[in-house]
Amino acid sequence: MNFLTPEIATYLDSLVPPRPDELRDMERIAESEKFPIIGPASGQLCYLVARMIGARRIFELGSGYGYSTAWFARAVRENGGGEVHHVVWDDDLSKRARTHLEQLGYSDLIRYHVAEAVETLRATDGPFDIVFNDINKSGYPGSIDAIVPKLRKGGVLIIDNMLWSGRILDRADQTPDTEGVREVTRMIMESDDWAASILPIRDGVLVAYRR
Ligand SMILES: C[S@@+](CC[C@H](N)C(=O)[O-])C[C@H]1O[C@@H](n2cnc3c(N)ncnc32)[C@H](O)[C@@H]1O
Repeated sequence: MNFLTPEIATYLDSLVPPRPDELRDMERIAESEKFPIIGPASGQLCYLVARMIGARRIFELGSGYGYSTAWFARAVRENGGGEVHHVVWDDDLSKRARTHLEQLGYSDLIRYHVAEAVETLRATDGPFDIVFNDINKSGYPGSIDAIVPKLRKGGVLIIDNMLWSGRILDRADQTPDTEGVREVTRMIMESDDWAASILPIRDGVLVAYRR
């Protein structure tokens, strides 16, 4: 869901530099299937953060068919190589991701897991430079105590859908997903362990530096 006016959202996406045809195809697939990828402007932001901190090890929770993974993989390649963990519990999406990411030339960088994302992170050795979280929103608060020990100090946590189409402001909405976004917002923004901002690109992207 785009929280900006369509004109501003289109403008921001139009500023994203040219990208491979395969990535464009993945955007078209998202459009036709109504699949919630992060989109070009947020993808560029993820790439930028990863380049700025020289990220070599990245863990994604909730990877879909590999669109966000591709942006991180591009940064890791340019940073000198490393690994990006692609984690989704749908076997079909994982298979589709393998096809797209192979086509993009990133196969050697990606570690695939078909499993529940938070438990997979708990079972994977850190430290990571970036953790990206895009799982079911009710699962956001419970993911934080798995993320903290795996994210290096000076690393960055990125969480998508932090404006949740504006539902965070609707007091009558107390669904588990909306409450999950509210709760994780409090956990990060009120903690001295993090320096964070929510950028109102698309559906809201939290970028949090781990002190
Ligand atoms: C919003 S989509 C991911 C989009 C992806 N980040 C992108 O921008 O290309 C979330 C995906 O993660 C899966 N998912 C949600 N919660 C999960 C969890 N706890 N463990 C594993 N996969 C999960 C969903 O089924 C869906 O395929």
